Amino acid sequence: MARKNVLVFRELPPEQLDRIAAAHDVTVANPRVADQREAFERALPWADGMIGSSFSIDQSVLDRAPRLKVISSVSVGVDNYPLAALRARGITLCHTPGVLTETTADTIFALLMATCRRVVELANHVREGHWTRNIGEELFGTDVHGKTLGILGFGRIGQAVARRGALGFGMPVIFHNRSQVDVVQAAPDLAGRAQQLPLDDVLKRADIVVLVLPLSEQTRGLMDARAFGLMKPNAVFINGARGAIVSEPDLLAALDHGTLQAAGLDVFATEPLPQSSPLRTHPRVTPLPHVGSATHETRHAMATLATSNLLQVLAGEMPAAVYR
Ligand code: DGY
Repeated sequence: MARKNVLVFRELPPEQLDRIAAAHDVTVANPRVADQREAFERALPWADGMIGSSFSIDQSVLDRAPRLKVISSVSVGVDNYPLAALRARGITLCHTPGVLTETTADTIFALLMATCRRVVELANHVREGHWTRNIGEELFGTDVHGKTLGILGFGRIGQAVARRGALGFGMPVIFHNRSQVDVVQAAPDLAGRAQQLPLDDVLKRADIVVLVLPLSEQTRGLMDARAFGLMKPNAVFINGARGAIVSEPDLLAALDHGTLQAAGLDVFATEPLPQSSPLRTHPRVTPLPHVGSATHETRHAMATLATSNLLQVLAGEMPAAVYR
């Protein structure tokens, strides 16, 4: 098979780079790093394949990459890619579903626990030397077990979060999903424990709302003033999906002038979160730097799958995880 040109637009583990380099010519250039931007631009016209994540490959990037046959994203989310344009140009898009489901659900549940039980704030209380007597009521958290867990998005990750809540913490689960889900079929262990409801009903009834929907034109800005206004007094909001699904000004207003108790956020409209964002230091926000899948095991599994996807397409084979 003739060697092709591969543009790696985000750092990959060396063993995955070696697998690609054994068969193809590789350029590593991350356009988010200022002094690599030029090398990225120079490589685009020759690239047959691209692999990476966390960078928006829009139409103008595609226009500068006329040979491109495959983009292999080291992510499950595909919101960084212009899907219709890729289809029109016959460019295959691959991603990494499955391998990050449980890890991402772990992160979301950790964030949920940390937010409700004020784990970060209380750790700082100790670190900063304020633990000189028992804490008072003003630092108490709220229970997680037994609370009603509302999940927006009942795909793989939503179901894995539901399992943690229902089976581990005795939480009744209600969820919203765009298409109808047959729980007995899709997640038999959750049968009788998870109920699908319209979006507004989930928002009105849940004590803790977890957002795990994909970002699309239908979900962009979904969590706005109206949605936060429907939520129960003292409800907690967790976002493990994408920042752009939430109106950040409306979330801040719900925290400051509404009745939302706290928010745990792994994702933001702009990432990395700008220093000037009020969400960075808000006392009732627990912020994380988009780390849903960031464990050694899972990030390596994602890189391995993404590399296999890329190599398979370049070899003319059907990739393991093509995005349809
Ligand atoms: C994913 O895989 O989509 C993660 O959110 C990383 O972007």
